Amino acid sequence: MRSLAVGLVLGAAGPVLGLSPLDTFYPPNLNDTSYISNASIGTYGGIYKAPTNGPTGGNPYGTYDYCSMPHPRSQEYKMPGPIANGSVKADLVYLEYLQRHQRRSPYNLLPGGEVSLFLTNQAYECDNVRPYLYAGANSNSGIQPMPMYAQTYQDPTNPFLPVVNGTCQYPQITIGGVQDGYQHGKDLYKVYGKKLGLIPKKPNDRVWFRSSESALTQGSAGAVLRGVWPDYEGALPLHQMVSSVDTVNEGYSCSAISSTLSALQSTAEWKEHLSVTSDLRSKLGSMLGATSSSWQNTFDHFCDNFQARLCNGYELPCSVSNSSACVTMEMAEEAFRAGDWEWNYYWRANPYVTKYIQVVEGLFIGEIVAHLQAVLDGSSTLDYSHTFVHDGDIGPILGALGINVLRWPAMASNVAFEVWKTHGKGSAGYYARVLYSGQPVQSIHGTLDWIHLSDLIAILKVYVPADIKSLCG
Ligand SMILES: *[C@@H]1O[C@H](CO)[C@@H](O)[C@H](O)[C@H]1NC(C)=O
Ligand SMILES: *[C@@H]1O[C@H](CO)[C@@H](O)[C@H](O)[C@H]1NC(C)=O
Ligand SMILES: *[C@@H]1O[C@H](CO)[C@@H](O)[C@H](O)[C@H]1NC(C)=O
Ligand SMILES: *[C@@H]1O[C@H](CO)[C@@H](O)[C@H](O)[C@H]1NC(C)=O
Ligand SMILES: *[C@@H]1O[C@H](CO)[C@@H](O)[C@H](O)[C@H]1NC(C)=O
Repeated sequence: MRSLAVGLVLGAAGPVLGLSPLDTFYPPNLNDTSYISNASIGTYGGIYKAPTNGPTGGNPYGTYDYCSMPHPRSQEYKMPGPIANGSVKADLVYLEYLQRHQRRSPYNLLPGGEVSLFLTNQAYECDNVRPYLYAGANSNSGIQPMPMYAQTYQDPTNPFLPVVNGTCQYPQITIGGVQDGYQHGKDLYKVYGKKLGLIPKKPNDRVWFRSSESALTQGSAGAVLRGVWPDYEGALPLHQMVSSVDTVNEGYSCSAISSTLSALQSTAEWKEHLSVTSDLRSKLGSMLGATSSSWQNTFDHFCDNFQARLCNGYELPCSVSNSSACVTMEMAEEAFRAGDWEWNYYWRANPYVTKYIQVVEGLFIGEIVAHLQAVLDGSSTLDYSHTFVHDGDIGPILGALGINVLRWPAMASNVAFEVWKTHGKGSAGYYARVLYSGQPVQSIHGTLDWIHLSDLIAILKVYVPADIKSLCG
């Protein structure tokens, strides 16, 4: 549905494209390298800036926002079409919710250090966040630990200096990420608890939480679930697999993952995207001392570095040797367009995409299918499952759903698999709807607003490998 045609004014170089918020998710010609080189596209209406503090949500609601993707909110939440128009009566009976962690410091610091136009050493400050980690016995009569949090500091006697000054570990959740997570949880409860009655008033044995082994996703879970249940006292289990066999965040080892990746990075299209960006890559490389292949072969590191700065109230970096040679917003925007092109290529457009999704995410997709199948069979032991993962998990899942176009799944991007049970006039049945960051997914299977649950399972099953061990080689 294309409501709210709001003209989004783009950055200095960009014209008004007249895009609706939802349009910003689906650039029609992302599957073409001219999307990268065409500077007048700017960010295609996307937002890449957030202050250090505070929850942010793209303005207007529903806009692609790298710092904080939209999520379901009661102000905008719409019932599925056939329920809204009164042709069907149904109750929400299951929610499978997946999300990327909230905004954070970067994975990739510039090799020579980071300076900005205004600061000689652009420090990353994280002492406004307390990442907790402590261990205790699993019974109330056992040892109850002191709640301990990590506090990063630098000792003057340590001759080794981090390349970037400050109090962050990399990557770690930032204060804006914590505040954003809390708001995300409050909004989810308003929709799925208060309005639809699915999330219980306090955690019970029909809710289930999981994260990757990463401190980042655990940090997000704590903030989001505090928003869901502000007054709950006590601890909750956050399920994790042993990291060496984890089915999220590329835990288990599988040589077909890297071989498929090198195959897709050897195609003519991949090479063309490197060739249209050779000027940009060489400028950024020499300005920032980032000429190694890990910085030059994909846009992952440049984008990660710029996104973390912009999404946490900092400036884009400058050359360490010449503080008036700085990354401009136009350069960052071209990098972001290239990053979006790469994500669409990884999970939608490359010739090996089915296998790539299967080897990277097939087991986890199989777990989702099993949850949905249990609901269909009437044997589900859960009402609400919430998993905290990474962009590298959200991407292949949206690819499996056949999303029309995939921009980089940004901070806190989320997928809600809703299962509805219809009733009345002998027409009981299970239907599904899949929301991507608050809106029904626009896919090659149509808009996923109301489909038979069995059809959704059939769409996903294609990506569940029958024998992952032999597929991995
Ligand atoms: C660049 O993008 C603008 C805005 O989408 C479009 O009107 C124009 O045709 C594009 N130019 C080229 C050369 O693709
Ligand atoms: C209600 O919406 C559904 C799907 O959006 C449509 O197929 C159906 O015709 C609509 N019914 C009425 C009475 O408008
Ligand atoms: C790091 O930050 C501290 C505190 O602001 C400052 O005293 C120190 O000089 C900085 N170190 C470097 C290498 O910039
Ligand atoms: C520093 O960068 C600016 C802006 O790119 C450039 O004009 C200037 O010549 C550079 N100075 C040196 C010493 O390289
Ligand atoms: C995207 O590009 C790939 C590779 O060139 C091509 O196979 C595919 O059909 C394209 N998809 C769309 C939707 O244009």
